[in-house]
Amino acid sequence: MAHYYITTPIYYVNDAPHVGHAYCTVNADALARWHRLVGDETKFLTGTDEHGQKVADAAALNGVSPQEWTDRTSARFREAWDALDISYDDFIRTTEPRHYETVQRFLTAVYENGHIYKDVYHGLYCVSCEDYYTLESSDEGRCPIHGRALTEMQEENWFFRLSAFAEPLLRYYEEHPDFVTPETKRNEALAFIRGGLRDISITRTSIAWGIPVPWDDRHVFYVWYDALINYLTAIGYGREDDQTSTWWPVSHHLVGKEILRFHCVWWPAMCMAAGLDPVHHVQVHGWLLVGGQKLSKTMAAEGGVKLSDISPVVLTDEFGVDPIRYYLLRETSLGNDGDFSHEGITARYNTDLANNLGNLVARVTTIVATKCAGVGPAPQPGSELASAARQAVGAAAAAWDRFAPHAALEATWGLITATNAYLEQRAPWKMSPGDELDAVMGDALEAIRLVSVLATPAIPHVCATIWSRIGLEGAPGDETFADSAQWGRYRGVHPIVKGEPLFPRITVSDD
Ligand code: MSP
Repeated sequence: MAHYYITTPIYYVNDAPHVGHAYCTVNADALARWHRLVGDETKFLTGTDEHGQKVADAAALNGVSPQEWTDRTSARFREAWDALDISYDDFIRTTEPRHYETVQRFLTAVYENGHIYKDVYHGLYCVSCEDYYTLESSDEGRCPIHGRALTEMQEENWFFRLSAFAEPLLRYYEEHPDFVTPETKRNEALAFIRGGLRDISITRTSIAWGIPVPWDDRHVFYVWYDALINYLTAIGYGREDDQTSTWWPVSHHLVGKEILRFHCVWWPAMCMAAGLDPVHHVQVHGWLLVGGQKLSKTMAAEGGVKLSDISPVVLTDEFGVDPIRYYLLRETSLGNDGDFSHEGITARYNTDLANNLGNLVARVTTIVATKCAGVGPAPQPGSELASAARQAVGAAAAAWDRFAPHAALEATWGLITATNAYLEQRAPWKMSPGDELDAVMGDALEAIRLVSVLATPAIPHVCATIWSRIGLEGAPGDETFADSAQWGRYRGVHPIVKGEPLFPRITVSDD
């Protein structure tokens, strides 16, 4: 059985979760669900990144200890993921003892392998990024991402000899052409490596909120240096419950484009330095933008949307869990930036969910209830819908496999459109009860069953509801995909439930 390990970045707990964080987590969740559906032994990890200056500052600003602040904010992430039905297998917090243990083991290995040395660091620091810039890489002394003035820092630090890993990294990229996807992001990482790598400072004495350096307790590790190791903490690296050989390195990190350098340059080099193979795949995604801007706390001050108004919990209350999940997965392909808007959600909801999927289910269940005595007939083996179904199944499966949920859903909705068109053409509502009507309705029910299977990683609640409305027991993911994706599994003689509209249309006012 194949193993599939997928991770999201761990989120900073300086502030509450927003829909940009949800974007990444929902995509990872759908991919994890897809792999469970095809029968892979799956582990899905998410969590919170709790050390560093930014979090310590947020705690101080709110008049509580860093630990209290991180407890409170980390819980808000869990709450958001519950609201979005996120099926994580593990939620890691970097303040947990297991993480301290793995980090210290990992970095001691790097140290003992001779890749860490002491020196004095001078640099320009951005607290929001928790990262250094040089004058050239800054925007005239300001952070190119946050626009804030950079702070001059000078401290005695331990350094990681990143510069020694340029050649091994380039070789790794050459030998693993799919290490970073999409290709534009791979090229970006390669250009960064080819541009020359400088050693990086990996410890701090200026703050105490971090993991102590085992060989020098005046220092704590720099937050990014401890954070990346979380992916190994969750699989027990260096501890008694070590499962590294099961889940590593054939794992997948899903990360936003601004943290590409950490995941595609630092992290593989760190692994090599510790004597471990780097992760096999990093999938980089773009940003969700509001009015062309990355989500930020300053948006509201500039007359834009208030982040708390578009928090995952508010949005799921307003539109429902599955519609938000669908929107986040369908609207933007992983890798590109996408626009987030209420109008966008409403349009997807009314068109794809209410008009296409909702109407199809309503239409079919109504006809079966009234003309087939409420019992779903079996499909025809050679139906013209069968070939549309086979095509949709193939395209959707391939898209899920290549980290393209938007394309998987597009293919799935292709089957919905084909089924609606088939009904238009055959007009069962004009037919009298009998074999011909049964054949058409059996085909439509089978197509609906397949749609529920294909869409279940994205919209699990609705798919389970549809499943029971067409008289099936359990849920769409109960059988392995290889079986359930075959045309003809709907055997007929299933009691149909009409039920309430799955997606009542949202009325859009003109003003
Ligand atoms: N703590 C680090 C990650 C450490 S991983 C070892 C961090 N945290 S973050 O909270 O700032 O961002 C986490 C993820 O959320 C990033 O992948 C980032 O791209 C994503 N997003 C934050 N805002 C986003 C959007 N507006 N749109 C899409 N994703 C966004 O970086």
